[in-house]
Amino acid sequence: MLATVLLGAFAGVGSAFTLSARDGTSATVYTSCKHEGQIALTFDDGPYKYIEQISDMMTRAGGHCTFFVNGLNWDCIYNQAAGLKYAYGKGHQIGSHTWSHADLTTLNATTMPPEITRLDAALEDILGCTPAILRPPYGSYNPLVQQVVGAHNKSMVTWDFDSGDSTGKNATESKALYKDQEYAGTLLALNHETSNSTVTEVIPFVLDLFGGLGYTFVTVSECLDINPYNHVGQPGNPSYKWNCGDYS
Ligand SMILES: *[C@@H]1O[C@H](CO)[C@@H](O)[C@H](O)[C@H]1NC(C)=O
Ligand SMILES: *[C@@H]1O[C@H](CO)[C@@H](O)[C@H](O)[C@H]1NC(C)=O
Ligand SMILES: *[C@@H]1O[C@H](CO)[C@@H](O)[C@H](O)[C@H]1NC(C)=O
Ligand SMILES: *[C@@H]1O[C@H](CO)[C@@H](O)[C@H](O)[C@H]1NC(C)=O
Ligand SMILES: [Zn+2]
Repeated sequence: MLATVLLGAFAGVGSAFTLSARDGTSATVYTSCKHEGQIALTFDDGPYKYIEQISDMMTRAGGHCTFFVNGLNWDCIYNQAAGLKYAYGKGHQIGSHTWSHADLTTLNATTMPPEITRLDAALEDILGCTPAILRPPYGSYNPLVQQVVGAHNKSMVTWDFDSGDSTGKNATESKALYKDQEYAGTLLALNHETSNSTVTEVIPFVLDLFGGLGYTFVTVSECLDINPYNHVGQPGNPSYKWNCGDYS
């Protein structure tokens, strides 16, 4: 409803206005961290079976990371509720990556909001919180996407470094890409928690390399000085409603 009103009010204005997400209009888009010496490792497309392992690696490295999760992508989020709660409980940040991983630029003002609200509702069920940040699938957005995401009081976060783990790079290549960034100062790094070799090879290498250089591993919100969540409360009680509908 809110999105529709705003979209109507601003139709035709396009990118001419630059209000922040806090004003309930166009979502701010963040690409890079603000603070030298900080690395925000992000893991998309889960929650998946490796999430606890990633959480533990980050904890051992004395840091935190961010998971941009879907409702229904590699698995139904309710099937991975335990792992998601585990990572959240260890202080890692949970961001929205939309319900179904659709390219938001292919949706309209009617079909886009459920991609946001359905995942928000699942995260309220499982964790009791609503994320304040959203990563658009494929990093794909346009002014309409910014309007709708902004109307849901969220900022958008893309990345300034891609490990290539979803675009055909093997672990050796991903490690070399990271190694090239030794002196970058900051990184907002895209990884996928669904990639076995990211978990077993690349991230252990990254934690050793950058940890040894004195970088700290922080959440996206820490590296941007923004709120992680719009609401934090108590999770719900599991029920028959905790499902992803008819899927296979
Ligand atoms: C939005 O897209 C859906 C599905 O393609 C379509 O049925 C609907 O008419 C569209 N709505 C608007 C307002 O364009
Ligand atoms: C990784 O990819 C590079 C480039 O395609 C290739 O030369 C190399 O053999 C691959 N390494 C492994 C371990 O598969
Ligand atoms: C990755 O694959 C290997 C070999 O197929 C398997 O043993 C392992 O459990 C998988 N996952 C992780 C995170 O180690
Ligand atoms: C919008 O987000 C901000 C920052 O996360 C939060 O403080 C505020 O309560 C939110 N407002 C609404 C209406 O959700
Ligand atoms: Zn993704």
